[in-house]
Amino acid sequence: MRTPSLLVTRSCKAIHRLQQSAFASPVSALYRHQTISVLRNSSTVSCKDDRSYYITTPIFYVNASPHLGHLYSAVIADCLHRYKLLQGFNSKFATGTDEHGLKIQQAAEAAGKDPLTFCTDVSERFKHLFNRCNISYTDYIRTTEQRHHQAVKHFWSVLWNKGLIYKGSYEGWYSTQDESFLTALQVGDAVDSSGNEIKVSLESGHKVEWMKEENYMFRLSAFRSQLLDWLKGNPRAIQPEIFYQVVLKWLQEDLPDLSVSRQRSRLQWGIPVPGDAEQTIYVWLDALVNYLTVAGYPDIHNQWWNVAHHIVGKDILKFHAVYWPAFLLGAGLPLPQTIYVHSHWTVGGKKMSKSLGNVVDPLERSKQFTTDGMRYFLLRQGVPDSDSDYTDDKAFKLLNAELADSLGGLLNRCTAPALNPAQVYTAFCPQSFPSEQGGRAVGEDYHMLEAVKNLPAVVEQHYESMHVYKALEAISACVRQTNGFVQRHAPWKLERSDITDQRWLDTIIHVSLECLRMYGTLLQPVVPEISDKLLSRLGVQPDERGLADVNFLPKIRGLDCPFEGRVLGSDTGVLFTRLENLDRDKQNPKKTKKAKK
Ligand code: MSP
Repeated sequence: MRTPSLLVTRSCKAIHRLQQSAFASPVSALYRHQTISVLRNSSTVSCKDDRSYYITTPIFYVNASPHLGHLYSAVIADCLHRYKLLQGFNSKFATGTDEHGLKIQQAAEAAGKDPLTFCTDVSERFKHLFNRCNISYTDYIRTTEQRHHQAVKHFWSVLWNKGLIYKGSYEGWYSTQDESFLTALQVGDAVDSSGNEIKVSLESGHKVEWMKEENYMFRLSAFRSQLLDWLKGNPRAIQPEIFYQVVLKWLQEDLPDLSVSRQRSRLQWGIPVPGDAEQTIYVWLDALVNYLTVAGYPDIHNQWWNVAHHIVGKDILKFHAVYWPAFLLGAGLPLPQTIYVHSHWTVGGKKMSKSLGNVVDPLERSKQFTTDGMRYFLLRQGVPDSDSDYTDDKAFKLLNAELADSLGGLLNRCTAPALNPAQVYTAFCPQSFPSEQGGRAVGEDYHMLEAVKNLPAVVEQHYESMHVYKALEAISACVRQTNGFVQRHAPWKLERSDITDQRWLDTIIHVSLECLRMYGTLLQPVVPEISDKLLSRLGVQPDERGLADVNFLPKIRGLDCPFEGRVLGSDTGVLFTRLENLDRDKQNPKKTKKAKK
């Protein structure tokens, strides 16, 4: 029988060979992708190459300022990136701006600016928001950059040389707002704000116009069965499941060829088709290639391209889960590992839009709730499978309850000079809290320890499937249990002069600090500043904060605890200051006073 390590080495070599090989046909590219997946799954230990990870956000349109929904896409990606770093991966994280196309051209004209100046201004606003919100991207791509033009032109030439692009004519509906082509079945009647009858996209509600143009077409129809095979062979390629099912359904319907250029006379703000200056490359083909550009394409790009994961909102699923994989198959490139789809934030049950005046400004809110507060709220309340409704009140309540009262309260209790006058990571006494019952700990305490011990695995599973809210729910439940543990044993009532009481008191604090160390470590991807404050207060050094360092409560297993006896960090500041909801308090002064008591 072969040993597992031999099998792994062979699998790794085979994956490497497959990744390096050049493929001529779409079928062989698909075969390569599937074979790599099979080999990966058959390895019991991960290959060295597998320690690379590449995560992307959609690139954002610069026709308007960033709103809460944009920040949400970015925060999810940032959280996964930070989580992978904690796991010891070499992670690349790309975001940026999508700057070509008719609507940008029109927005620049309306602002009276030349398109590039206009794009630079708005792109900087996105960058500012992301920097302010600790979005730790490793690359910020703009589609107006030279490196991207080169990648797009190369990609186009590959498809052209394979006969996958042909000159034809397109006649049909087009939505400039969505930069999307629609069939008659996807269009409905509506009335605009001036009372004119118009046609709109049934999906987005945006206005559509009839378009008739000579342009280049991509042979999308040729890829239907390969896309189906890909999805059937990779049921976790699109997550959550409901969106996987949506894509399968699309692929069972008609899949006409796709127009991939516009006449230059109508669209100047874009990349010209190589060899035909009269045509501009379709903005979605241009935009999707950004993921390759960041990976290094057309030069060496395998290290990143073979481990690519995309975060996308549900409105842009078809572009990512149908067009993009078809383009990639056509170009003989591997397909993304996962497309994580999230739903939308609504306000008052309605999609955020300028015309409705319900756009939530993420920059202003991140000042109000703090950066970490904003991040925590979005990830704790945002559910990928369905839309979430935003209200300020929800944010106040959640952040005060979970960050200020529950987590902050627990830290306060364990570090309060009254209970911990020496300001140290107190000692654990095995007689008070033996590994089996018999000391002063009770059954519920053991249940709590079990839940905290299992937390990394639970959290990992939820982070990996982008159900960050479930990870946070699990952490929050454990924090409540730890508070319950302290409350149950009321260490402030113990008799300090009694040595056994003093040991039990120290043990209660030691166990609680160990729990806090666990929460601080696991929360780093979501609330990096709060976690840093928490771990620093516990005296946990920066190189002791990886997932591999967690090693929860070793003393109960008779092992050494490196933290025991250490002096606590000197920053005694509040972990998360309670937020005052001034608007609500103004409306309800009596209620607020009473609540404060
Ligand atoms: N430029 C394209 C993406 C090209 S990627 C190759 C685009 N840009 S966008 O600015 O309109 O949207 C970017 C992201 O923000 C998308 O994932 C979209 O779903 C997300 N959101 C926009 N509004 C949203 C909400 N109201 N709620 C949550 N996210 C939403 O599409």
